Amino acid sequence: MKRIRKAVFPVAGLGTRFLPATKAVPKEMLTVVDRPVIQHVVDEAIAAGIEHFVFVTGRNKGVIEEHFDKHFELEATLRSRGKTVELRQLEQQTPAAGATSFTRQQEPLGLGHAVWCARDIVGDEPFALLLPDMLHHGKVGCMAEMIKAYEAKGGNHIGVYPVRDDETHQYGIVDVAGSADKVAKIKAMVEKPARGTAPSNLAISGRYILQPKIFELLATQERGAGGEIQLTDSMLKLAEAEPFYAVRFDGKVYDTGSKIGFLAANVAYGLADEKLAPEFRAVIKDILG
Ligand code: UTP
Repeated sequence: MKRIRKAVFPVAGLGTRFLPATKAVPKEMLTVVDRPVIQHVVDEAIAAGIEHFVFVTGRNKGVIEEHFDKHFELEATLRSRGKTVELRQLEQQTPAAGATSFTRQQEPLGLGHAVWCARDIVGDEPFALLLPDMLHHGKVGCMAEMIKAYEAKGGNHIGVYPVRDDETHQYGIVDVAGSADKVAKIKAMVEKPARGTAPSNLAISGRYILQPKIFELLATQERGAGGEIQLTDSMLKLAEAEPFYAVRFDGKVYDTGSKIGFLAANVAYGLADEKLAPEFRAVIKDILG
């Protein structure tokens, strides 16, 4: 079985749900507590043992590349001022030389197309895919759990989490054999099922482990919902030939591409920060009156 070494982060979307904030600043660079959203997601991948980070960027996303680069002047200044804690933090968060790749999706033709843009960099090996606007907050990282499941079973894996029954029409939903199990074989996947028709309440959370055959399928994938090349459409074809497993995430999932998800993430991460929590809790209480 091939090890999961590479992770793909598609960051070429337009972020229209978060305008005007995302007009000049990529939504992945909006800050949750003390770091950009994309840093939280890369940290999750690092914790899962990922060694190479592939970013599929687009217009106006150059600042993401800057964020993951070494900043000599800043590091020299921190060193000369004796700010060793901040310096160590910066050093730890900068990927090693050669451990990042950036490719460009020239037009936002959809998530499936963005993933396909990474085909040459990923090559012929299974890989992790993390949607950077989806933050997974829990005791154990979602991707770490998924890699563990992959090492036990092989195949393809999708992170899922339970949503309310009256929300299922907003998500990609999976039907599984054994919905209470941590890892369960997927029987069916439906993108945004009509109200009352969802086969379960397990929503796709934006974390995947996929076999490289997905690239072949994406290469000929026709446009689907919204006129975009949809990853789900190619995954459905792949599922005819290869097993797919759902890995249930027991923490909370926040869609930071939506205003409410972003605000909720800041509250949750702020309250989970040992140093900030006491004061932050008092501030929230005060605001709530
Ligand atoms: P979203 O649909 O959440 O992102 O795609 P978006 O299109 O930026 O958001 P809105 O709906 O306009 O607000 C999920 C992920 O796929 C990436 C996005 O950057 C996001 O991380 N994506 C989407 C691409 O990289 N390219 C695309 O063509 C579409």
